[in-house]
Amino acid sequence: MVSANVIALLYLLSAVLFIFGLKGLTGIRSARRGNALAALAMLLAGITTLVDIGKADYRWIVAGLVIGGGIGAYVALKIAMTAMPEMVALFNGFGGGASALVALSVISLAILEGGEPLGASASISGFVSVLIGGITLTGSLVAFAKLSGKLGGAPIILPGRHWINGFLVLTTLGAAIYFLLSSGADATALVTSFLVATALSLALGVLLVIPIGGADMPVVISLLNSLSGLAAASTGFVLSNNLLIIGGALVGASGLILTQIMCGAMNRTLPNVLFAGFGGVSAASDSRDYQNITSYGPEEAAMVLESAMSVIIVPGYGLAVAQAQHAARELGDLLEARGAKVAYAIHPVAGRMPGHMNVLLADADVPYEKLFEMSAINSEFKTTDVVLVVGANDVVNPAAETDPQSPIAGMPILKCYEAQTVLMIKRSLSPGFAGIKNALFENDNTMMIFGDAKVVLQGLLAELKELGTA
Ligand code: TAP
Repeated sequence: MVSANVIALLYLLSAVLFIFGLKGLTGIRSARRGNALAALAMLLAGITTLVDIGKADYRWIVAGLVIGGGIGAYVALKIAMTAMPEMVALFNGFGGGASALVALSVISLAILEGGEPLGASASISGFVSVLIGGITLTGSLVAFAKLSGKLGGAPIILPGRHWINGFLVLTTLGAAIYFLLSSGADATALVTSFLVATALSLALGVLLVIPIGGADMPVVISLLNSLSGLAAASTGFVLSNNLLIIGGALVGASGLILTQIMCGAMNRTLPNVLFAGFGGVSAASDSRDYQNITSYGPEEAAMVLESAMSVIIVPGYGLAVAQAQHAARELGDLLEARGAKVAYAIHPVAGRMPGHMNVLLADADVPYEKLFEMSAINSEFKTTDVVLVVGANDVVNPAAETDPQSPIAGMPILKCYEAQTVLMIKRSLSPGFAGIKNALFENDNTMMIFGDAKVVLQGLLAELKELGTA
């Protein structure tokens, strides 16, 4: 039998490792080490919990580990980098769902099987984790469906949705209060009130996320991430497990900070994202018929680049799809070797997850000092010869500044249009994630280069090398 002090010490060690893990994740160079530390903390936490439980039917635990671990390993190996955001959405949902299930089982055990009666604090925490966990589960499933394209990105606005949501919240609170104040009531009534609250929280998760437009998904994912942490922390109170409380609080707090950063990146307030039903495809902005498109082949584009003294490369989601980061870095290096000043401009919501572009460019060994955040580089565009936009669309769309009705209105963008020439690589005139027209394509100083980002960049490299030897 291991003493309670040793268990507490091992939990403390796990918590410290979690904190150092998170710290590591704040920098690209230290992110791998941070991830490894957090995984080690999780392993230690799992083993400590098993030791703490002592006697248990380990067949269930081993079966859960093998099945869950097997699915996790398979998915982690198979998942494409571009599908990471939807996988994160699923993880958030499962995290919230797992916390809710644990709380649900502890509470039902206490009511139905005459287990140890729960105190007021454990009952309230149990309710909170079921409510938040339920909302996180179904909300994340909707976010997953939107991100993976299984559900359209446009907001689904139900008539009177605020009333419906208000009614659901009040009914859920009513069921919670009944449960908490009726300790003497019979078990069936208690369980029914608990299950009603659970079902309503599941419905709330769906209803809260369906009216949020695709362009606001970064905020939603971060918020759901935070909620999954809060659900875990509440379950920690139910189980009196300090590590779960600390771990949940860390996830909750970091998710909340990320939500704030994403709101800042979209220039929106959280209530505006959650309740405005904004972010759809407006009729005016959905027109995809472009009038004034200039299309260049790699040869013409290489000639433009050849004479450029300053070049800014703007990566976007298309760079990730095409896995074109190495080709982009090679092109940047070549231009620099020819005497041009080269920088990479990173928009905070470029791609499909926070830090997406930083990770890809770091993977291609682009030096950190050449990566510039939007706020640092936006004043440079007007003095730049050529901007090479590689698979980015929404984050360079001037509609954010010029069209108050646009789903991305008010979102700060990379001001590429101010540069002398914009070379824009994408496969077609299709819209980006927000599903809207991009007037940048029609600007007189914009040249479209149609094709897969990697193929086009390799073509540009070949042309430039040829020009260099001519
Ligand atoms: P998007 O606006 O989504 O545009 C990406 C463009 O890449 C598309 O227009 C597409 O055009 C092009 N593309 C796709 N595959 C390509 C390929 N193989 N080669 C070349 N081009 C390709 O990307 P963005 O500018 O990075 O903006 C991100 C958007 O995602 C924002 O609306 C943001 O709100 C949203 N979002 C971001 C996050 C986070 S946290 N970053 C999370 C969820 C959603 P073609 O089909 O014509 O090639």
